[in-house]
Amino acid sequence: MAQTKILLVGNWKMYPESIEEARAIERRSNAILKTKKHITCVLCPPALFVADIARAASRKKIVHIGVQNIHADHEGAHTGDVSAAQAHSVGSRYVLVGHAERRALGETDIECAKKVFMALTTGLVPVLCVGEKERDAHGQFLKNVSAQITEGMSLVPQHLRGRVVIAYEPIYAIGAPKPPQESEIHHMVLSIRKTLTQVYGAAVARNVSVLYGGAVDASTAPQLLHAIPELHGFLVGRASVDAKKWADLIISLS
Ligand code: PGA
Repeated sequence: MAQTKILLVGNWKMYPESIEEARAIERRSNAILKTKKHITCVLCPPALFVADIARAASRKKIVHIGVQNIHADHEGAHTGDVSAAQAHSVGSRYVLVGHAERRALGETDIECAKKVFMALTTGLVPVLCVGEKERDAHGQFLKNVSAQITEGMSLVPQHLRGRVVIAYEPIYAIGAPKPPQESEIHHMVLSIRKTLTQVYGAAVARNVSVLYGGAVDASTAPQLLHAIPELHGFLVGRASVDAKKWADLIISLS
């Protein structure tokens, strides 16, 4: 593995309700992470809170900040959207691309590919989210996830491919009470690594981090990391905006 650090990405979605609560989660995360040098932590607040939280985080240089989405264009008449350059200019260094909740609104693989390209050429690390709706007996789901990766990375120049992060999130696990069987997650993580190696070569595959997301918390994360050595970390929804669950999760990864 190219990296031994755990990458922990918190996707706050449309939570919390107030900037005060958002600041409190950032403060708490910084305080706990001070002694956890083996964890790279990225918080992805709602766009409206990003500048404020990034400013607070930049003083302590522990937590990194990401946005939950960007527009594929550099700039333009796109009401309500945020550009990669704007995200970068307020201190964001990561961006989620193709989260299942955005794909459900119609985001396509080619739009994801444009966003991944825009992110990388603007200095943001794209976290490309992929995952199947359901599993079939013939293994078509493996091919579908593989296609999401190759299409999502199709516009990335060769020298930037190793910077992409892949987050595997089976759609049925997002918001579910618990993740699928470890063996199912492991199978997909190996399939993703195989796709990366076959399509881009071993050097790129070594540098691409693969995360798992879907019902991750302190009760599931340590065992998943232990059971799946090819896993680099997690993309976390609910447990990242609940101050206690988030703290418990970080501590559980010691
Ligand atoms: P969850 O969401 O951790 O609440 O299941 C994961 C995600 O949507 O990224």
